[in-house]
Amino acid sequence: MHEEILVVDDEPQMLIAIQETLRRKGYGITTAGSGVEALCKLKEKFYHLVLTDMRMPEVSGLDLLKKIRSLLPQAPVVLITAYGTIQNAVDAMRHGAFDYLLKPFSSEALEGVVRRALDAGPQRNEKTSHTILTQDPGFSRTLQLAGQAALSEATVLIEAESGTGKELLARMLHQKSDRSKSAFVAVNCAALPENLLESELFGFEKGAFTGAVSSKPGKFELAHGGTLLLDEIGEMAPILQAKLLRVLQEKEVDRIGGRAPVPIDARIVATTNRDLRELVRSGNFRQDLYYRLNVVRLTIPPLRERRGDIPLLADFFCKKYGKYPSEAGVSLDPDTLDRLMAYSWPGNVRELENTVQRALALCPEEILRTQDLLLPNPPPAPSANGTKESVRGTGFSAGVTMREMERRLISRTLEDTGGNRTRAAKSLGISLRTLRNKLNEFGLQDRGFENRQAKSAHSHASL
Ligand SMILES: Nc1ncnc2c1ncn2[C@@H]1O[C@H](COP(=O)(O)OP(=O)(O)OP(=O)(O)O)[C@@H](O)[C@H]1O
Ligand SMILES: [Mg+2]
Repeated sequence: MHEEILVVDDEPQMLIAIQETLRRKGYGITTAGSGVEALCKLKEKFYHLVLTDMRMPEVSGLDLLKKIRSLLPQAPVVLITAYGTIQNAVDAMRHGAFDYLLKPFSSEALEGVVRRALDAGPQRNEKTSHTILTQDPGFSRTLQLAGQAALSEATVLIEAESGTGKELLARMLHQKSDRSKSAFVAVNCAALPENLLESELFGFEKGAFTGAVSSKPGKFELAHGGTLLLDEIGEMAPILQAKLLRVLQEKEVDRIGGRAPVPIDARIVATTNRDLRELVRSGNFRQDLYYRLNVVRLTIPPLRERRGDIPLLADFFCKKYGKYPSEAGVSLDPDTLDRLMAYSWPGNVRELENTVQRALALCPEEILRTQDLLLPNPPPAPSANGTKESVRGTGFSAGVTMREMERRLISRTLEDTGGNRTRAAKSLGISLRTLRNKLNEFGLQDRGFENRQAKSAHSHASL
């Protein structure tokens, strides 16, 4: 697929040079000679990336950036500036720029930043709140803990499988902190080779190495006063781990080729989808760094362990991506929900989000059908007393509230397990205690034989 880039600069020479470099790399380029022209072009067509000069008459690059954040919130923006003061850069990052490029720059530097911005995918809009939906008791407790941790300066380590919402949680920590007015800066430690990651994190001075045509502050400096997300920390090379540890201890960074250390003030949030303790044990992650990072540890359960979140999230994504912004929106037919509930979601919430989004694109009507999901075939039919079939015919349809759906699901699951609450809770992906609370809430207390047994035997302590 052609990736479309809008390049904005008031200097025609610059526009031509950038256009030529990027066209050679196979990108689709549109140019605009002013911020006003750029805004017109933005309304006509979709762009994957906007590259804009910072200093332009009338509408400056920063003004344009702010407008783009509301017009096209998902497109990454890279700013080009000749006035490479850290203040410009920090302002740009604070307003949601992906990165910036200092003039003069080499064609490699240009290609590099464009590639990284495109690979990073859709940007999240800092201004929108990052809703984390869940009804899972364990995850809810984690979120509560996160809310408290947000107010402290403690380093947070988020350990969870891929696609569970680690970045979302990191952003929530930032938003709820005293640092929310400053930048949230994310660095993916898995995406860059060691030397590039080093200069990305710590910055460099002009002439520090071939290609360092101007100085550049690192992400630590850009996150000054704000939050620095070290994504996929488990992938960091040992040498860099040592350097990172020193930075965290000294609270200052040395730019590559720099003479004096620069003080830093960034709150650190690190994420990993690997078991860091295991990496420590196998000698691939420094123990001292692990202890530094692991001040507050938050984990997010994988989606298959909180299946109750599946209808909730599916509904949310239907509304988010549906063509019909109306109240009713697109709904899931019972079989579709069945299939969503039965699937194991190795890619977690991200996979569910993609599945729903893709299905909506394929779905001609207002009902999402099972075949639109394009999920792999479900596992072989469960045994007679299994519960996989149980959701079928539960009567999920448009216009049913989440609460009602939940009540029916619980009641039907209990029927299928012959009233066995332990098995029902397991199948629903909730704790026995939660199931009991819900049964009370819905006035279904008398369902389930455990209860009956307990009553007759007068022996079971209730949970
Ligand atoms: N509980 C949730 N409620 C709403 N949206 C969610 C939730 N969890 C995840 N998402 C959405 O799922 C997608 C993946 O989340 P995110 O990028 O934060 O995951 P991640 O753990 O960082 O993934 P990866 O390990 O692949 O980097 C995002 O679009 C996010 O908004
Ligand atoms: Mg992530």
